[in-house]
Amino acid sequence: MNNLLEARNLSKFYKEGDEEIKAVNNIDFVIKENEKIVIYGRSGSGKSTLLNLLSGLDTYSHGEISYKNYKYDNQHKKITQLRKESMGFVYQFHYLLKEFTSVENVALGSMILGENKKKSLKKASDILDKFGMSERLHHFPNQLSGGEKQRVAMARALINKPNLIFLDEPTGNLDKDTSKEVISYLDDLADEFKSSIIVATHDPEFRNFSDKILTMDSGVFV
Ligand SMILES: Nc1ncnc2c1ncn2[C@@H]1O[C@H](COP(=O)(O)OP(=O)(O)O)[C@@H](O)[C@H]1O
Ligand SMILES: [Mg+2]
Repeated sequence: MNNLLEARNLSKFYKEGDEEIKAVNNIDFVIKENEKIVIYGRSGSGKSTLLNLLSGLDTYSHGEISYKNYKYDNQHKKITQLRKESMGFVYQFHYLLKEFTSVENVALGSMILGENKKKSLKKASDILDKFGMSERLHHFPNQLSGGEKQRVAMARALINKPNLIFLDEPTGNLDKDTSKEVISYLDDLADEFKSSIIVATHDPEFRNFSDKILTMDSGVFV
């Protein structure tokens, strides 16, 4: 498989008074097409910072990143478009819009790319079906359980069949069984869409799902 995203000598430093925090410190990272990588590490080890750099959401202090054939320029222009078209995101907190139903929340992910409402709603209901949510299409977020909300958040991240999905503590608020269930849906859909996955997590349930496990500590892989 080809490399999808590649980072070399990647660093992100924060200034705190006289001190410099090396949140990400000279990291090399490669993910291939259709590969699943899990990043473990205690809180504060640099996982979220690394994900934000790799997705172009944050600027780096040093290094280089290339995605497909595009070299990041740290300027957020082209990468913003690439991110919309071909990356998906899931966070610990679902960030669903509370005044929209499940199917509407998911459809928004497609409408952002200019797809019309009717087609977007159809795509959304198809993908929610794959997440076992066909009975919950017209429920609002406050009518859903924690696991259901995360399944909707994942469906929203996947609706455009992204090449790369970033998940930051996606099961952080779920119990063990629910977590297992949500991961299994994610696993199946990622395979179906041939999406690559980068998960930052504490959840041991991700061990079985990954092709590669990395551990971060103090901004480096250990
Ligand atoms: N905006 C920021 N300003 C200063 N320090 C930050 C900022 N964001 C993160 N950090 C620091 O960078 C380190 C890594 O944080 P983070 O990437 O959030 O770790 P994790 O996701 O593994 O918990 C921590 O020491 C954190 O305090
Ligand atoms: Mg984090």
